[in-house]
Amino acid sequence: MDNYKIKLRERVAEVLREDNTGHDIYHSDRVYSYARKIVKGESWLDYVNDNVLFAAAMLHDVGHQRCLKEGDKSRKKHVEYSEQYARGVLRSMDVPKDEIDRVVACIHLHDDTKPWGKKTPTDIKEILALQDADNLEAMGVLGQLRVSFYSYDNKLMFYDPQLSKTKNLEESRNKCIIYNMIWHLGLYENLNTGTAKILAKKKDASAKRMIEDLLEELDVSEE
Ligand SMILES: [Fe+2]
Ligand SMILES: [Fe+2]
Repeated sequence: MDNYKIKLRERVAEVLREDNTGHDIYHSDRVYSYARKIVKGESWLDYVNDNVLFAAAMLHDVGHQRCLKEGDKSRKKHVEYSEQYARGVLRSMDVPKDEIDRVVACIHLHDDTKPWGKKTPTDIKEILALQDADNLEAMGVLGQLRVSFYSYDNKLMFYDPQLSKTKNLEESRNKCIIYNMIWHLGLYENLNTGTAKILAKKKDASAKRMIEDLLEELDVSEE
C-alpha cells in the first residue's frame, strides 16, 4: 500500500475504532477488495482511478458514526455525513478537487442499488464497482448478520407469523427482523456486473439456505 492509502486508512480507522454496527474499517477493507476484484474481472483497469476507488471504499460508511452520536438509529443521513467527512479529510490531504468530487459521487450513490435505492442510471465504473462491492457485503451469512444487528438496533420485532412473507414484504420488513432478512435476499438481482454475480453465488446460496432452515425452525405446528 502506498503512503496516501496508508495515511487515509489510518484516519478512517481512527473514526471507526469503536464501531459496533458492522461498518468498521474491516468492512471498508473488504469493500475495497471486492471492488478491485470486480474492476479486474470486468477489465475496467484502464477506466478506474484506483485512488478514487480506495478512498470511496474507505469513506463510504464513515457517516454512520455521526448518526450514532446524534442518536439517529435509522442512520439514513450517513451518506450525506460520509460525503461531508470525505471532502474535509481529502482536502486536508491535498487531493485534487476533481478527484474529491469523484470520490463524493461514488459515496453519494453507494446505496443506490440496494433494494430501497433509486437505481439512478450511471456508467461511472468506480460507482458501479463500489455499489456491487458493498452489496456483496450485505449478502451471505455475514450480510444477514449485519441486517439482523441493524434491525435489532432499530427495535424491530423478532418475528410475527401473521405478517406476509410474500405480498407485503416491503411493509413486513420494517416490522420484523426475520422479514428484513428475507427482503435482503433481493440484493442478488440488483448487482451491476457479471463478476459480482459470480462472487455472490455462494453467498446467495448460503443465505437462502439459512433462511429456509430458519423458516422451518420457526414453524413447528402439527401437520
Ligand atoms: Fe452505506
Ligand atoms: Fe458499506
